Amino acid sequence: MPTTARGVIARTPGAPARVEEFTIGDPGPNEVLVRILASGVCHTDLGVKQGTYGSSGFPFLLGHEGCGIVEAVGEGVETPQVGDRVILAWRAPCGECRFCLVGQPNLCAASLNAEKRMRAADGQTLNPVLGIGTFCTHTLVHAAQAIPIAPDLPPGQMSLIGCGVMTGVGAALYSAGVRPGTSAAVFGCGGVGDSVIQGARLAGATTIIAVDIDPRKLEWARGFGATHTVNAREGDPVARIKELTGGNGVNYSFEAVGRPETLEQALFCRDLAGTCVFIGVPGPGPTLQLDLQRLFDLGGNLRVSWYGDCLPTRDFPLLAAWYRQGQLKLDDLVTRTIGLDETEEAFAAMERGETLRSVIVLSSDQ
Ligand SMILES: NC(=O)c1ccc[n+]([C@@H]2O[C@H](COP(=O)([O-])OP(=O)(O)OC[C@H]3O[C@@H](n4cnc5c(N)ncnc54)[C@H](O)[C@@H]3O)[C@@H](O)[C@H]2O)c1
Ligand SMILES: [Zn+2]
Ligand SMILES: [Zn+2]
Repeated sequence: MPTTARGVIARTPGAPARVEEFTIGDPGPNEVLVRILASGVCHTDLGVKQGTYGSSGFPFLLGHEGCGIVEAVGEGVETPQVGDRVILAWRAPCGECRFCLVGQPNLCAASLNAEKRMRAADGQTLNPVLGIGTFCTHTLVHAAQAIPIAPDLPPGQMSLIGCGVMTGVGAALYSAGVRPGTSAAVFGCGGVGDSVIQGARLAGATTIIAVDIDPRKLEWARGFGATHTVNAREGDPVARIKELTGGNGVNYSFEAVGRPETLEQALFCRDLAGTCVFIGVPGPGPTLQLDLQRLFDLGGNLRVSWYGDCLPTRDFPLLAAWYRQGQLKLDDLVTRTIGLDETEEAFAAMERGETLRSVIVLSSDQ
């Protein structure tokens, strides 16, 4: 029997997204129905709502950073099982595409998703953001997108592993491969950037420079492991990073804003042969002109990182374990907990820079 659910639906680019009732068809083969317990509000959802990211696809069921409980499974599903607590992954490698076949599942070009079985009250098919949709009471995903974790871990904190935390920690560990004793600079200290800082700390970097334009974000960044902070509004951040690194620049730089000027700064604050990792989503339009000889003279490399090059089946349980051991700080990323009907306010708070993450917590009567 179809499930009646409630969720935050964006119908037109730029217009407010509202809570609506919708229906979910029964899980088909290899699909699972998940009751959402908590969902983080990532900046990418704001881009989707504004029509600057994945613009062809309205109406969207927003949200892609979620933790929940499996309520029903379709034919052939062995893992997860009904009752399992799961974190949802927006990349579930297919095992068969040209990347999976050569051992690069982090680049999977045919990530597994459920069939589109979610319909608004007016009959329109809903497009769940990044194939998940988590600002809702229930959602339908491919079984491979639902990664089991221990049932006693807090859903709000666990939900953040589903995107922002994994992206940031993975960017440091996997995309950059940060080595012990090195230096790193992180541009943009929101939920993603602060997770890069934690990843760099876990990998053993000894100089971690947080760069932001908001003093509050810089203060928070210290709590996640930044050893130095640079306010980019108070002068040239590249010059300041050079000063802090004996004139050399950093071994690794991370762009977690999505703007041309911060990418340029991240490229040119590196030491010789340093690695720059581009994480921020710029949306359509921005371009960047570069001094190519300066780029050549620096050497090194530029990596775009999707989802921190993670493998959710390996990395979600790992990050959950690090949280349990106190090595990965997630409590301080949850700036606010909110209800399903407060997501517009959460986007506004994000734009005002007041939050690292607003987390929607679903109570059983919603
Ligand atoms: N590559 C991926 O797989 C992936 C995954 C998740 C999110 N993202 C993207 O990562 C970016 C960050 O996401 P978030 O949720 O942390 O966003 P956020 O809004 O919480 O954080 C962005 C931060 O950048 C800071 N900032 C703005 N302009 C700046 C400047 N000129 N210099 C330095 N800092 C500046 C802001 O003050 C803020 O602290 C977004 O573009 C998001 O879409 C990418
Ligand atoms: Zn694949
Ligand atoms: Zn995200």
